[in-house]
Amino acid sequence: MKGKSIFVEAGGGFDKVSVEETETISPGDSEILVRLHANSLNYHDYAVVKGLWPASEKRIPMADGAGEVIEVGPNVTEFKVGDSVVSTFFPSWLSGEPVVDGFSTVPGDGVDGYAREYVTAKAEAFTKSPSGWSHTESATLTTAALTAWRALFDFNQLKSGDTVLLQGTGGVSIFALQFAKMAGAKVIATSSSDQKLTRLKELGADHVINYKKEPNWGFLARELNDGKGVDHVVEIGGAETLEQSLNAVRIAGQISLIGILSGQTCDINIVKTFVKQVRLQGVLVGSRVHQQEMIKAIEANQLKPIIDRTFALKDIVKAFEYQETNQHFGKICLEF
Ligand SMILES: NC(=O)c1ccc[n+]([C@@H]2O[C@H](COP(=O)([O-])OP(=O)(O)OC[C@H]3O[C@@H](n4cnc5c(N)ncnc54)[C@H](OP(=O)(O)O)[C@@H]3O)[C@@H](O)[C@H]2O)c1
Repeated sequence: MKGKSIFVEAGGGFDKVSVEETETISPGDSEILVRLHANSLNYHDYAVVKGLWPASEKRIPMADGAGEVIEVGPNVTEFKVGDSVVSTFFPSWLSGEPVVDGFSTVPGDGVDGYAREYVTAKAEAFTKSPSGWSHTESATLTTAALTAWRALFDFNQLKSGDTVLLQGTGGVSIFALQFAKMAGAKVIATSSSDQKLTRLKELGADHVINYKKEPNWGFLARELNDGKGVDHVVEIGGAETLEQSLNAVRIAGQISLIGILSGQTCDINIVKTFVKQVRLQGVLVGSRVHQQEMIKAIEANQLKPIIDRTFALKDIVKAFEYQETNQHFGKICLEF
């Protein structure tokens, strides 16, 4: 049996993307064969395909894949034919303390990913999808949702009544908004667009700030929490936002360092971090067990992801070009 796969040449580039027919492999010991039906786009996948963080060899991109198990190999006990499954970001980090420090094992970067109709993989590279979710909905979880989940609940556990500051309206931040509201937290959310601020309010944000119109949004966020500062910042902007995040966070609060949308290096006044005794916590997605815990919470709270737009698999470059415009609110997906 053959299926369509997307490839990007070594070095990346939108003009280096092709669709090819590839042979399906029967599952071996502890493996499953999955008919994938959806991917979701992340900044990381964009950077690989665009060639900003290129793969060193020809690669099937995309870390987030969801579909249906169509065959199981010997010694697979967790899944059966017909199960809906979603990929994990680190197939080799199953549980416990982090065992990974980069992207060499990540599907769609160091190894082939899920922009393809069929994949044969170790069963442990997938978890069950949330019950009642479509494949497209499930494909939003692997990278963005798990990163937001871990930032809020793995370190310094978010508590009901805490205040969280979120930046922008991309995949990570919108999941963080949904999870924070689910936990009974107060949310201050920012965006460059007034129209998106209205949508953030509709989703439950308690306060919204246009970060383009309010360059000192960090101080404003601090004032909005009675001048004490916020308990937690989900920091996705990087170079141009960290200083404002330090202004916004309360004494002994946490900044989860996640993204670099405005650059990776910046000058910060280190004194600001220790006088406030701030916890700066790097977060890199999560383990398989983290994903299973997140899915349990999603099911218990009947959460649904916010999907902005879907594209066909063959239109993957169009989807990334749309992501580049930053018009999206939540996730962009591929369906096939
Ligand atoms: N560490 C990890 O494990 C991990 C995991 C996932 C993602 N990330 C990183 O987190 C970042 C966000 O990823 P994503 O997939 O959520 O991206 P995304 O969906 O592409 O997010 C894009 C949105 O971010 C907002 N944004 C852009 N520049 C901004 C800035 N300077 N300040 C505030 N907001 C800004 C914009 O929102 P508005 O249009 O509303 O202004 C934009 O629409 C990326 O850097 C990504 O690499 C890291």
